[in-house]
Amino acid sequence: MSLLSITGLRKTFGPNVVLDAFDLDVAAGECVVLIGASGSGKSTLLRCVNLLETVDDGVITLAGQDITDPRVNPDQVRARMGMVFQAYNLFPHLSVLDNIMLAPVRVHGRPRAEAKAAALAILERVGLADKTRVRPDELSGGQQQRVAIARALVNSPELMLLDEVTSALDPELVGEVLDLLVSLKSDGMTMVLATHEMAFAKEVADRVCFLHGGQIHEEGPPATLLSAPTKERTRAFLSRFVGL
Ligand SMILES: Nc1ncnc2c1ncn2[C@@H]1O[C@H](COP(=O)(O)OP(=O)(O)O)[C@@H](O)[C@H]1O
Ligand SMILES: [Mg+2]
Repeated sequence: MSLLSITGLRKTFGPNVVLDAFDLDVAAGECVVLIGASGSGKSTLLRCVNLLETVDDGVITLAGQDITDPRVNPDQVRARMGMVFQAYNLFPHLSVLDNIMLAPVRVHGRPRAEAKAAALAILERVGLADKTRVRPDELSGGQQQRVAIARALVNSPELMLLDEVTSALDPELVGEVLDLLVSLKSDGMTMVLATHEMAFAKEVADRVCFLHGGQIHEEGPPATLLSAPTKERTRAFLSRFVGL
């Protein structure tokens, strides 16, 4: 059974049909990378999965549960996923530790001591155990993004959704975030991520999906899809990226 299953998803904004009869199944432990032109619907898809958008049609299931069922509590569903965006959205006045403890304590009502232990463990996991007391602006962009990833991991999500998480970083800082995602994958984390970085897709993806026309136009393992796409649209898109 797939951990995440998207069937017949339709999402429109007024007359703009962004996703149309969109299907995607993600197995537990799989890393699926979404690529496609700006505006092809990568962010919209991730936001639909995280229930940040209402869908016009279709069904999304997480571990067999229909999360698009209107009777579902969206907060309970969101607690099972970690989402990370291009902008780190850390609170500048809070320490790294407090940024990570905030949701577990305030939203999920976890006891402080327990939330602190979990936050310290996750900061160790992302290699920032020595930064617990500093504020975000004392960190590099790559370190801040790793804090944002730690914050998304602290509730032990079943699924991680990552939207252009390296796009705001200087090129020399991309590597540390990529390394973290590779290590999460080797821990068995299921991930769906959107990126413009083909090297990133190549390194971390089990499967790359090229979005076009509201659907997955072509998909395959990175070695095949990125180097030898069969469809004209995919070739045209990838031709913009040199050195693949
Ligand atoms: N909140 C919104 N309101 C209206 N249109 C939107 C909204 N969010 C996204 N769109 C439109 O949906 C399309 C897909 O956008 P997006 O999912 O952000 O694409 P991508 O992430 O692949 O660049 C674009 O045409 C965009 O303008
Ligand atoms: Mg986007």
